[in-house]
Amino acid sequence: MKKIIGILLTAVMASSLMIGCGAAAGAKADPNGSKCLADGVLTVGTNAEFPPFEYVGDDGTPDGFDIAFIKAIGEELGVEVKIENMEFDSLVSAIGSKTDVAIAGMTVTEERQQSVDFSTSYYNAVQHVLVPADSTIASYEDLEGKTIGCQLGTTGDFIIEEIEGASNKQYNKAVDAVNDLVNGRLDAVIVDSNPAGVFASNYPDQVKDLNGEDFGFGVEEYAIALPKGDTALKEQIDLAITKLKDNGTYDKLVDQYME
Ligand code: ARG
Repeated sequence: MKKIIGILLTAVMASSLMIGCGAAAGAKADPNGSKCLADGVLTVGTNAEFPPFEYVGDDGTPDGFDIAFIKAIGEELGVEVKIENMEFDSLVSAIGSKTDVAIAGMTVTEERQQSVDFSTSYYNAVQHVLVPADSTIASYEDLEGKTIGCQLGTTGDFIIEEIEGASNKQYNKAVDAVNDLVNGRLDAVIVDSNPAGVFASNYPDQVKDLNGEDFGFGVEEYAIALPKGDTALKEQIDLAITKLKDNGTYDKLVDQYME
């Protein structure tokens, strides 16, 4: 009998995971008001192709700053954190169906704000330009007419779309774009500052890492994407972020994961 109940429970948990916050329809109301927390599990979408924020660790499961950070947030909220690794381009649309929230070095943009809310921001970044070591590319104008790679659906992708005459090569993983840069198939790759540093360090003699500020790229703020209108969840997550910043946990994770 115990075993059967166990199996049933697993089945219920699995189905509630699959529908994310929707699980709350039948679940008892969370005392603090967020439907996403009612089942005791926060299902978090990520795209573990973005070191040092998220990558697949040696044990085959997602690791990185964002993963450790959201687990610390989960601890503050008293819920279990369940990570779902998926394509970056699917993260926003998965919120409210497959996942509750997403953490993925995701930049707050007006377009994304049409479909999701964001937590308070937890990190500032800027796009960087990776070029072959012998490249003469040094300014925004130099990128015009070039073949430039990026990860599909990222802010780097949106920047390339605006560059006059540029041919935009979109990849599911930024690392694949970097490999094509090294193989001579691309003139440049546009990717966020920290991952750019990690990727470039893998090819110290072949790849130059140029700061996008010299190309006129603006500061981007990373935040956790949340279901639209769940103010109770936003309130609790924002509070947890403030607490983790105040109590030194955030700085500890920065030291642990950032170069
Ligand atoms: N910051 C960029 C954006 O929001 C890139 C994020 C890519 N993140 C990832 N986990 N692959 O579009």
